[in-house]
Amino acid sequence: MDRRRFLQTSALTGAALAFGARKSWSAMVDAHVEILLDEGGEMIAPEIYGQFTEHLGGVIYDGLWVGEGSRIPNVHGLRSELIDRLKQIHVPVVRWPGGCFADSYDWKDGIGPRKDRPTRTNFWEVDPDAKRLNGQSVQVYEDNAFGTDEFLRFCQLTGAQPYLASNLRSLPALDFTRWVEYCNSPAGSTTLARHRAANGSAAPYNVKYWGVGNESWGCGGNFEPAEYAEEFRRFTTWVPSYGVPLEFIGSGPNDNALEWTNGFFEALRHKGYMPRELRGWSVHYYTWNLSRGKTTDWVAGKGDALDFDETGWYELFHQGVIMEDIVRDQWGLLSEFDPGRRIKLVVDEYGPWYRPGTQLDPTHLLGQQVTLRDALLTAMTLDIFNRHADKVGMAACAQLVNSLNALFFTHEEKFIVTPVFHVFDLYSPHQGAQALRTEISAPQIHYLRDGKPAAFPGLLGSASRKDKTITLTATNPSLQGPCVTEIFLRGAGNAVSAESDILTNSDMHAHNTFEQPNAVQQSKGQVQVMKDRLLVTLPPASVSRVTVHLA
Ligand code: AHR
Repeated sequence: MDRRRFLQTSALTGAALAFGARKSWSAMVDAHVEILLDEGGEMIAPEIYGQFTEHLGGVIYDGLWVGEGSRIPNVHGLRSELIDRLKQIHVPVVRWPGGCFADSYDWKDGIGPRKDRPTRTNFWEVDPDAKRLNGQSVQVYEDNAFGTDEFLRFCQLTGAQPYLASNLRSLPALDFTRWVEYCNSPAGSTTLARHRAANGSAAPYNVKYWGVGNESWGCGGNFEPAEYAEEFRRFTTWVPSYGVPLEFIGSGPNDNALEWTNGFFEALRHKGYMPRELRGWSVHYYTWNLSRGKTTDWVAGKGDALDFDETGWYELFHQGVIMEDIVRDQWGLLSEFDPGRRIKLVVDEYGPWYRPGTQLDPTHLLGQQVTLRDALLTAMTLDIFNRHADKVGMAACAQLVNSLNALFFTHEEKFIVTPVFHVFDLYSPHQGAQALRTEISAPQIHYLRDGKPAAFPGLLGSASRKDKTITLTATNPSLQGPCVTEIFLRGAGNAVSAESDILTNSDMHAHNTFEQPNAVQQSKGQVQVMKDRLLVTLPPASVSRVTVHLA
């Protein structure tokens, strides 16, 4: 039996690897992880584990909102199973109503008695895929059944903070101020506070996070950076706070467009305007180009969610780890304008984006299947955020349900979780924990990109600490074999016990369906512990969480 087969077999049977004499087991080890216990790292903002919901395809209608009086179990029209699952992963923040939709949305259309709310053309009506709906659905002609009060109730029920994205392209600044007033003015204080009370909430919602436009370089207005800076000033000057410490999130770059960031902040600096409420700079990075370097065309470059080979598996990660460069580069540039480091990066859209064709229902525009490959990409991304906890203040996975990197699929009464849900479940102990510097040494993954060699890190991970519990999460993207990993705890503290939870499958295409809802699910693994050293086998194509209990 060769070494890899032996390790695989022993991992599967749970047979103990020799762990006594260092000599005997060190020869088996593929990777080393050193966790530095005594270096005080930043707290991992719980908001890094945020979600994104847009009036797009099946996200709101068929996803969150089933309507009051529906036969589908609901709380005030909101899907109960979704609420329960979001509580399970401690969802910290949810962004709404877009996305591109936000810059075409008038919040006033979505309040008051539903029968009086207007029907409008949804922004996504322009999407080529919307043609298949022939205008016959709420995804095309939005009836505004779900609006501000429904969303904020959803947040209250799940325990999430709301993050509202304002319309900067097609509404004046006054509407933004009035939206803040509707949400936050004290009970009985203003006409809008009275409207809010009539709509079910006398108490203010106290919304803290406000996005000032979305993708203002594109669907949000096609602005130049200096033009956007002018609008940003108009929108954010002297906004009443009603005692809520407002945090504004500026519409940041597409991918790593440094010229957008530079142009915006130069323009603010030139005017001497840097409001203290500007606390976040958004970043959108989708992993969409699987053309292996052949094209940068948005349509031609996309891959398929289900139909991919080994190269397609690795290529997604090769493209995905670019996120780390984006975080480093954007953060580096921000330091020139914000030396006090008040403004954090808010990666409020990320995930894979495939060509259409694998959505579970025709109304699910931008819907796509979610496989084990997407779970690994999501895990790698969250590990990047954890490792840069000093830089990333918030993030939102695009999107929560029935769209792109969904955590859930729903259709009418059907409801399932995807492999990405499991990643958020596995990673939830990182929320609010102290990030620990973690040095990983592992061989790179090498693969052929249409004959040309390519490589990316063979093991990615991050660690954090809460009291006497250390959480290490790690991804082994190799399809070839397990990664036997030796973990060293450096600093004061020995391990008394440890366990691991694993997400993997022997099929790289594995995914959950309404017919087979648990094809991809978590399982338990083994960790061997010897004071400050641990040994764990990370199966091929896996995401693992190792939980270490200190003495
Ligand atoms: O998530 C889908 C779309 O992607 C969002 O509406 C937009 O902000 C981005 O381009």
